[in-house]
Amino acid sequence: MQFDKPATTNPIDRLKVVGKPIPRIDGALKVTGQATYAYEWHDPEMHYAYGYPVGSAIAKGHVTSIDTAKAKAAPGVLAVLTTLDVGDLPKGKLNTAKLFGGSAVQHYHQAIAIVVAESFEQARSAAALIDIRYAVEPGAFDLRAEMGNAQTPDPSTEPDSAFGDFNAAFKAAPLTLDQEYTTPDHSHSMIEPHASIAAWEGEKVTVWTSSQMIDWWRTDLATTLGVEKDKVHLISPFIGGGFGGKLFLRADALLASLAAKAVGRPVKVTLPRPMVPNNTTHRPATIQRIRIGAEPDGRIVAIGHESWSGDLPGGGPEVAVMQTRLLYAGANRMTSMKLATLDLPEGNAMRAPGETPGLMALEIAIDEMAEKVGLDPVAFRIANDTQVDPEKPERPFSYRDLVGCLKTGAEAFGWDQRQSPGLRRQGNWLIGFGVAAAFRNNLVMPSGARVRLDRQGKVTVETDMTDIGTGSYTIIAQTAAEMMGVGIDEVTVKLGDSNFPVSAGSGGQFGANSATSGVYAACVKLREAVASKLGFNSGDAVFEDGKVRAGNRAVSLSEAAGDDGLVGEDTMEWGDLTETHQQSTFGAHFVEVGVDMATGETRIRRMLAVCAAGRILNPITARSQVIGAMTMGVGAALSEELSVDTRHGFFVNHDLAGYEVPVHADIPHQDVIFLDETDPYSSPMKAKGVGELGLCGVSAAVANAIYNATGIRVRDYPITLDKLIGELPDVA
Ligand code: MOS
Repeated sequence: MQFDKPATTNPIDRLKVVGKPIPRIDGALKVTGQATYAYEWHDPEMHYAYGYPVGSAIAKGHVTSIDTAKAKAAPGVLAVLTTLDVGDLPKGKLNTAKLFGGSAVQHYHQAIAIVVAESFEQARSAAALIDIRYAVEPGAFDLRAEMGNAQTPDPSTEPDSAFGDFNAAFKAAPLTLDQEYTTPDHSHSMIEPHASIAAWEGEKVTVWTSSQMIDWWRTDLATTLGVEKDKVHLISPFIGGGFGGKLFLRADALLASLAAKAVGRPVKVTLPRPMVPNNTTHRPATIQRIRIGAEPDGRIVAIGHESWSGDLPGGGPEVAVMQTRLLYAGANRMTSMKLATLDLPEGNAMRAPGETPGLMALEIAIDEMAEKVGLDPVAFRIANDTQVDPEKPERPFSYRDLVGCLKTGAEAFGWDQRQSPGLRRQGNWLIGFGVAAAFRNNLVMPSGARVRLDRQGKVTVETDMTDIGTGSYTIIAQTAAEMMGVGIDEVTVKLGDSNFPVSAGSGGQFGANSATSGVYAACVKLREAVASKLGFNSGDAVFEDGKVRAGNRAVSLSEAAGDDGLVGEDTMEWGDLTETHQQSTFGAHFVEVGVDMATGETRIRRMLAVCAAGRILNPITARSQVIGAMTMGVGAALSEELSVDTRHGFFVNHDLAGYEVPVHADIPHQDVIFLDETDPYSSPMKAKGVGELGLCGVSAAVANAIYNATGIRVRDYPITLDKLIGELPDVA
């Protein structure tokens, strides 16, 4: 099915199942431990061996020799496979850094060997006996130091934009801001580390893994193994989080496949947690310069945003300026991205890539500018709203209610209680309120599904879509139930298997809208099959209460299915509605913090997000996405930072002891409000995504709340005690 005209009324609009707060249908499996995650698959017949990966101890250079004799002689060891043994392997399309093979080292903890043994402990113990020699080459590890060498990245990344005359307008503006903001490298820190089990049967390999994007992984694994894609079977039904860290094939899947072939047995491999941050990808650090010029009445007349980031050769920039092209009005504009070559681990997508660090900077700048023009930060944002793409004024937003988010949030939060910086106190605590806008584009991806109807009138959906903790199972079941006119209990959803039709996968907050649209398309086919079998005109057929009706005839779905059952399969493809209309999601974050006036300790006291993001398919799973994202934003604001060793080129705090993410006790009160919105331009579901929107802007709202509490403006994340404490005596 091609979606190229705005949606009209369709069976989803009945909203008998879609839009309802249905608890996740996989919840019971998860809380009873029956949902099998990658490393947990266990078949007593399988006779598994265990692989333990070894990562490079240098960031750049070559492996000159690997002595495996002692490791091979260690108890239980079956094989040691080194990067020198396998030689250069073809790299998959979507990885920047190679995962394994050959002597060249591109980054610290690149996989260079795997030890396979009868037990995990034996493999780990033997791994310590491998003697590796390197030829070290100097590398570039410091973004600040490389700023001057940064280049304009590949044109496909659309690095620059200009509209009007920014320089002249900025110079002439009566009120101006020119500031630098910095965001550090971030690690996804999903709870389930990367893990895979591989088993060969002849020329075919089956890999149980933890992947956001089944087909991307399958394609790249086949390329790297040098086999046809149909020889690779991927299975990933349950995933313990990804946040972008499992978008692209990772070393565990490749190492498990190679090791299983080498020992002729199924092999289990997980990346040990301390290997994850340097072996995989991360959100790259940015240095951003923002300039804003405004009239005394608060209108922005010039807005400029430049960003510097780094990556390995062949990589791309962190696209931190993108939202600035679309979020606020202003007749004169420029954005620009520069990319430095860094020999750190591969920088790549992490939840709301681009917008997350971009809004961490922009939404502080907007707060600063509001103060300069003497407007309340909510009023300043409303004054600069736009209903068209500011760089292409002929192009409207499909739907945009940022103003509604700000107004609703201000009212619900009690924003009018906000005082001037440093004025509100409770004992030792300085109390502050902060606000930021949230913005994230709505992407769509082709997505396929197969839907079966059986003799019992039960519906089974099969798609290689993944559920990374987001609720895919549930919203897909709701979609099929709505389309086929059955209760959600009549629907079984099977996900995460490369034998199923290729879906959008989970990424870029496109999963919910795209994948349910694919299920919609397949259900349309199934409805046609049912109608045609019964001799109904499919346009007249109504699917309701387990029956299909047309005119005065009604037949149960089980009878319609017959003994052979019926199947519908299709893929949702997308026309150019994302070109003709700017499709984005909007929100507003409100945060109250307390800052201890003696220690500089910041505590979140309450948070509110208001989102306008299309139809909400399930308020429970959507809310869960947003509160999780808000929590992640608190981490980025207050604690998360991969600390770079700029001499040797690696992330020092590469485990969950040193890389600090918020825990429950850090987040006392969160609330989410969804504005009622259906966007017919987005899909037949009229939905968009919220999983990334919920993170966008949060950290700036925290930073702005800290400023409101203390009068101290920190522009360098994370906002740790040391950045506040020097100025606190003046405040207190
Ligand atoms: Mo997302 S960063 O595309 O998982």
